[in-house]
Amino acid sequence: MGVYKMGVELDNIFESFDKNNIFRNKSILQLNYKPEDIPHRDEQIKQIASILAPVLRGEKPSNLFLYGKTGTGKTLSIQFVKEELLKRVKKESNVKLRIEYLNCKLKKVADTEYRILAELIKKMGGNVPNTGLPTESVYSKFIEIVDTDKQLLVLILDEVDQTVKKISSDFLYNLTRLNAELSKAQICIVGISNNITFLDELDPRVRSSLSEEEIVFPPYNALQLQEILKIRSRDAFKPNIVEEGVIAKCAAFAAREHGDARRALDLLRVAGELAERDNSDKILLKHIDDANSKIERDKILDIIQSEPKQFQFVLHSIISLSENNPGRTLSRFIGKKRNQNDPIFTGDVYNFYKDICVRNKSEVLTQRRVSDIIQEFDMLGIINVRIISKGRGGRMREIKLAITNDVIDKAKTIIADSLNYN
Ligand SMILES: Nc1ncnc2c1ncn2[C@@H]1O[C@H](COP(=O)(O)OP(=O)(O)OP(=O)(O)O)[C@@H](O)[C@H]1O
Ligand SMILES: [Mg+2]
Repeated sequence: MGVYKMGVELDNIFESFDKNNIFRNKSILQLNYKPEDIPHRDEQIKQIASILAPVLRGEKPSNLFLYGKTGTGKTLSIQFVKEELLKRVKKESNVKLRIEYLNCKLKKVADTEYRILAELIKKMGGNVPNTGLPTESVYSKFIEIVDTDKQLLVLILDEVDQTVKKISSDFLYNLTRLNAELSKAQICIVGISNNITFLDELDPRVRSSLSEEEIVFPPYNALQLQEILKIRSRDAFKPNIVEEGVIAKCAAFAAREHGDARRALDLLRVAGELAERDNSDKILLKHIDDANSKIERDKILDIIQSEPKQFQFVLHSIISLSENNPGRTLSRFIGKKRNQNDPIFTGDVYNFYKDICVRNKSEVLTQRRVSDIIQEFDMLGIINVRIISKGRGGRMREIKLAITNDVIDKAKTIIADSLNYN
């Protein structure tokens, strides 16, 4: 294509984008937007408020634990109550109130006990070097800065299960012990998690301390999601842009994904973007299907990208074997031409994988571990595993890729880039 022609084509693209037929205010559908209404969470919001209300009288509330699946409005609700509490703080009160929010999933901020404490100290107006102090001294610093005043500190630890995953449960144990060390100040902990079984995995003392009060956030059903979407879409889109049935379809998709409002909003936003790209003057039902595949695809690629090397080796083996590329070590196929549709079994993947490890001078995991990884891929929807009985109690696991060719191609690029291997 000549430069001139390309210029004209780009003009068309930019112009039609500039026209912007679809969105009035796209940020309303973005995830950091704070909606004014939070429908279907009245119960939870009132419960949080009544449990935390004592802070307005300068009294320490019970520690509180919020849990429910992803996208059920936990973060939104706690942020809302936080703001409402701060609006109502009485100036003449002799106890200061601080409410600090920290998302424990944040990289570089919450990866170690040291970093979390340093971040909290910073939020309280103090300062510690980024590294170097022994952890005990960072605790002492934290206690010192909290205890300078007669104050109540409400510490909201969002995605708190990540601290156990990344650090250890000692951190939570230490936190729940802090009040014993404070003389003027008091700390109340609000923990939040979308890992439903997280509490059960904790030491009983830590568990009972963290969950003196518990509030469950149930998934939204399709009708509730429709209402949430309707309200958010009213100002996000230009008038009469959304075809009949689009909202219902988004809600139905997201309800199937365990009632996740984030997924519902993502679907609607991406559908809008696809409609815009199509130059369509409406968001049609088919845009929801396309948005759904796009989101699925992006999610899977994100996972592949962030998996450790060993996972990528295993996936690489499965992809190569599926592409009729039996490799050197696949003895079952030596001397035979392998057909595209011949099944692949765990043992084949393992042999192929071992070979890649050797060629990359990398550690070789046991067959047991590789089986676990294969099972994880199955759970993520990257492959399908079918158990086949082989008589005499023997069983084999047959593996098939469950992702489409364009995802496979992108996955291959990601893996090749990160392994620097072809
Ligand atoms: N009742 C609601 N009304 C309007 N928007 C909502 C509602 N519930 C959730 N949302 C929106 O859905 C998205 C996800 O909500 P939120 O972040 O509170 O979920 P969460 O329960 O904290 O999920 P996770 O466990 O993944 O952190 C946000 O963009 C939020 O604005
Ligand atoms: Mg959240």
